[in-house]
Amino acid sequence: MPVSEADFAFYKEFLFKLSGLSLTPEKNYLLESRLSPIASSLGYTDLSAFTAFLKTSKDNTVIQAVVEAMTTNETSFFRDTKPFERLKEVLPDIEKNKQGDRTIKFWSAACSSGQEAYSIAMTMQDYLAAKPGWKYQILGTDISNDILAKASSGTYNQFEVQRGLTIQMMVKFFTQDGPNWKVKDELRKMIDFKYANLLENLNHIGSFDIIMCRNVLIYFNLDTKTQVLRNIATKLGPHGYLFLGGCESIMNLDVPYKGVDGMPGIYQLAG
Ligand SMILES: C[S@@+](CC[C@H](N)C(=O)[O-])C[C@H]1O[C@@H](n2cnc3c(N)ncnc32)[C@H](O)[C@@H]1O
Repeated sequence: MPVSEADFAFYKEFLFKLSGLSLTPEKNYLLESRLSPIASSLGYTDLSAFTAFLKTSKDNTVIQAVVEAMTTNETSFFRDTKPFERLKEVLPDIEKNKQGDRTIKFWSAACSSGQEAYSIAMTMQDYLAAKPGWKYQILGTDISNDILAKASSGTYNQFEVQRGLTIQMMVKFFTQDGPNWKVKDELRKMIDFKYANLLENLNHIGSFDIIMCRNVLIYFNLDTKTQVLRNIATKLGPHGYLFLGGCESIMNLDVPYKGVDGMPGIYQLAG
């Protein structure tokens, strides 16, 4: 059952303020399906009673659970393939500009359950194998603590590993753990997973050579996209590259990037 207009308006503002999510009326049905389990776990028999409680609640655990339930965590290893081929093409330029420092720094912003960060790590293990002295570091961040716990565990089921990994990659980078596959330590230790909301101050995050911020801007309105892209620009090194998702671009946004020739979805700082 769809939530009432007044409750929909409440959720729209609540989610926008806390995560930037732009909730459109056709997504009304998601409120019922995703929030009812939280409502029942707290003893509410219907969503409107839970919503009345939430309107005045200061309970951060419940608030965070609602935000997490409403965000979409869809991801897969080597999602869309092409960006990971492009990654290998931009690396020589990054190396050339590193000036003494031989650590390439990555940020998987909105990393979901970690497949994007591990895909970068697998690419880099192979890429740097013949480049002694070079290292890489990856930071994976997300707004959902539950999904970050999964990313940190580095454990995936058969369905998840089959989405994007070849048997050779599974054998090389994972060990079998009952019905699941666990990322080997050599890969796991290259990635730090942390909470970060892309709408908030990112001063604690550091500076990066490559930022992947893929398939999250699609959930935001134009102003929020602009805010997030400007925020991220302050974290990108002067010769760094930003990778957006397949359906995302900077078109019509007043943000300080220029597209990289022949590489749609990949940007550098302008000027
Ligand atoms: C669809 S997943 C994309 C995962 C991965 N980047 C990919 O392309 O496969 C979107 C992720 O963005 C996160 N997210 C949503 N709003 C966010 C925000 N304001 N700050 C940080 N992460 C956010 C969600 O929790 C979710 O894990």
